[in-house]
Amino acid sequence: MYLLYKQTISAKSENYEVICETKVSENRRNFAPKFKSIFKMNIKSIITAAIALLISTACSGGAKQEKVMNKDGKSLVVFFSHAGDNYAVGNIEVGNTKIVADYITEVTGAEQFEIVTHKYDGMAYTPLINLAKEETKNGELPEYEGDIDLSKYDTVFIGGPVWWGTYPQVMFTFFKKHANDLKGKTVIPFTTHEGSGLANCVEDVKDAFPGANVTKGFSIYGHEVRTEKAKVEKWINGLK
Ligand SMILES: Cc1cc2nc3c(=O)[nH]c(=O)nc-3n(C[C@H](O)[C@H](O)[C@H](O)COP(=O)(O)O)c2cc1C
Repeated sequence: MYLLYKQTISAKSENYEVICETKVSENRRNFAPKFKSIFKMNIKSIITAAIALLISTACSGGAKQEKVMNKDGKSLVVFFSHAGDNYAVGNIEVGNTKIVADYITEVTGAEQFEIVTHKYDGMAYTPLINLAKEETKNGELPEYEGDIDLSKYDTVFIGGPVWWGTYPQVMFTFFKKHANDLKGKTVIPFTTHEGSGLANCVEDVKDAFPGANVTKGFSIYGHEVRTEKAKVEKWINGLK
């Protein structure tokens, strides 16, 4: 069987339509992106340039930096990260997203709240993706441990792995509990992933926190986080 996960991002103009698909191979654990393009223009070079631009925007979240952080305000990183049997990087003691969260704290001094559930402890990769698929499909809201008062923070980073095209469902439990707590605050989404980039995460954060100033977000491959700290630093320094 080939297709376990399929995410489609599409964008249209009157001249072209590009569809970006990410497929997951069960056998090869391959989240390699596959691009399908359909176009209706005459000049080949214009088409190529338009597609390159569209793909980079749709699939990477864009590269332009925003100065969104209030340097004097208090910042928080809220994140979920799954240690253990992990796609692409084997069995890891520290999850990929936690590593990015720690970089953010190192560079900004932000405090942290980790969304913790023991629901997935010790699970092998394949049963985990099957369980997560069901949870996503059913909109389940698994419980997490503890909680945090968000009132004293001006900037809140929100990060997690992409699971089936968005954040893990346990993060939506947090979103639901705090739906009214981020009005007027800056919210900066980030993801780690293996091909889907930001997927639907920014849109889902916007939906979850009406009245928050949600920025465009940042994504990095999970298998890169241990070696590409500079990418994270560059992004954060661009926000300040
Ligand atoms: C249940 C599950 C679902 C996943 N779904 C996707 C996906 O839809 N798109 C993608 O690019 N990567 C997907 N991945 C890969 C993770 O996003 C990636 O390995 C991430 O860096 C893990 O971060 P963590 O170690 O902080 O949990 C999935 C991994 C798991 C375990």
